[in-house]
Amino acid sequence: MPENLAYALTQVLHNFGGVAVVGVPVFALRAAPLPSERETRLARLGALGWAVQIASGAGLGAVSYYYYGRLPDIHGVAVAALVTKLACAAGGLALALRLQSRAERWNEVQRKLSWRALAALAATALAAAAFLRWFS
Ligand code: HEM
Repeated sequence: MPENLAYALTQVLHNFGGVAVVGVPVFALRAAPLPSERETRLARLGALGWAVQIASGAGLGAVSYYYYGRLPDIHGVAVAALVTKLACAAGGLALALRLQSRAERWNEVQRKLSWRALAALAATALAAAAFLRWFS
């Protein structure tokens, strides 16, 4: 089934992006204190993870549209879960990019707060994913 393969390959990207957005800030917090150049590189990796999530999430919708001629018909809790994921992804990408460009100027407290916020956004999106899946 070509649509199953398209879904599965897009979901592979989406799953690895999910691992990156959760794993990178958890690693940065556990490994702290790190030199600011390493935090810059980690923030870049985190931003890449969020960008992959946005692209592959949109890709899952695109596969559905391509093969079935419409987007998944979701209501109520599933819509709230999707909006939560979108908000987390937009905030996570913006914050990771900001941390990437400012890590060398920010002090340790500012960097730690940013990593905590990134971890919280990723955990929220991951929790919302379960509600999107089972209320769709
Ligand atoms: C722009 C943001 C996002 C969009 C548009 C999006 C969209 C989607 C869609 C359409 C699905 C398939 C749902 C289904 O099988 O019914 C999905 C699954 C999933 N998403 Fe996202 N997503 C986004 C962000 C995220 C983020 C940030 C994470 C994790 C941190 C994430 C984690 C997951 C996981 C783990 C699944 C698989 C759920 C399962 O089948 O049990 N997503 N996403």
